[in-house]
Parts: sequence; structure tokens; C-alpha cells
Amino acid sequence: MQQGIFISLEGGEGAGKSTQLRSLSNRLRDAGIKNICTREPGGTAGAEEIRNLLVRGDAARWTPKTEALLMYAARQEHVEEVIKPALKKGVWVLCDRFADSSMAYQGIGHGLGVDKIAALNHWVLGDFRPDLTLVLDLPVSVGLSRTQGHSVGENRFEGMDTAFHERMRQGFLSIAKANSERCIVIDATASADVVAENIWKAVIAKTTKPDPEAGS
Ligand code: TMP
Repeated sequence: MQQGIFISLEGGEGAGKSTQLRSLSNRLRDAGIKNICTREPGGTAGAEEIRNLLVRGDAARWTPKTEALLMYAARQEHVEEVIKPALKKGVWVLCDRFADSSMAYQGIGHGLGVDKIAALNHWVLGDFRPDLTLVLDLPVSVGLSRTQGHSVGENRFEGMDTAFHERMRQGFLSIAKANSERCIVIDATASADVVAENIWKAVIAKTTKPDPEAGS
């Protein structure tokens, strides 16, 4: 059986990832492609418990190192219990955030260092990574204003200062540049319909093999 495709959606606060994930999931389903939507941190009962520790409470609740380790503890559970089994069955996995968030938030935003997160990532995941990563990009001020009133107590990261969010935005853009075969940057300031269309085009382009007969 053919493996499913693993797609992650990344970006700063208020980029509209959850809406876009649902829209992509519906479109794939309508095209006859079985898929599941999941998220990080979270995606299993245990990882959701870890999520609660991470996204609630005071911004200074955890040291950056503890934060990174908790993210990877949750990720290990999620990858082994949900993501890999689904892909093996040929089901596509759409994930709201994945390892690039640890690189951007903990590695770059908190300054733990790209090398440290890369080493942790390699220990936990080996070479396992998404087939396609869509980076939803928008100015920090626009993203944070969109999140006002949206959260249900999950606002620990929104409480970080603007400089943190700016470092993280630049972090996502540099990750995308360094991994251009896997990552596509999508302008998230456009309307939700336009963003959905651009995401769809990116998915088609990535998953459709070029026709060897074309142009001959
Ligand atoms: P969400 O609000 O997009 O659901 O993500 C929850 C928060 O967790 C968000 O502020 C980003 C943060 N996060 C990290 O800092 N590192 C990670 O590895 C992941 C997956 C999320």
C-alpha cells in the first residue's frame, strides 16, 4: 500500500492555521483522499495533557529547555501512536504545527540555539519529517490582533513579548529558505479563501508527479 502524505502547517499566532487545515481536509476528502487532522503539542490523550502544561499559565512558567523537552515528549507520543500508523495505512496526515515550531519558538525565539534543537530532533525523530510544510506568514502585529479574544485560556505564548514573536517569524522564514524542497511560504494576510486556494495549489504541485510526456 502507498504511504500517506504528511503535511504540516506552521506560522505565528493568528495566522489562521486551524481554519486552513479544516478547509484543506475537506478539499482532500472531496477529492477522495482519506485524511486526518491533528495538532501539536497534542494529538493523543497523553500529549494533550502535556499541551495543557505548555499553553496555559504564566509566560515564565517553564525554562526554555523544559519547554523544548515537553514539546518533544508530546511529539514522540504523537508520532508513534498517531502519525506513523496513519501514514502506513495510506491516510494523509494534516498537522497543525510540527517540529519547525520547536525550532522557531524554542530554538530561535527563546534562543536555545538551532544546533540544540536539531540534535534533540534527530534523537527523537531521526530522519522523519513532513513531506510538505506550509508556512503561513503575516506581520506579528496583525497575527496578535487576530488572536485577541479567541483563546480559551491557551494564551501563554501570546503573553511573550513582541520581540519574541518577531524573532520567531524571521525564524520560520529562514527555516523555509533552508528547506525549500519541503517548505512553501504562503502570504496569510490575504482573505481566507485566497489563502485556501494558494494552499491547494501548493499541495497539488507537491504531490503531482511531472508528466514525462509533457511538452514532447
Ligand atoms: P497553537 O496555538 O498553534 O495551537 O500552538 C500552541 C502554542 O505552542 C503556540 O503558541 C506555539 C507553541 N509551540 C511551541 O512553542 N513549540 C512547538 O514545538 C509547538 C508544536 C508549539
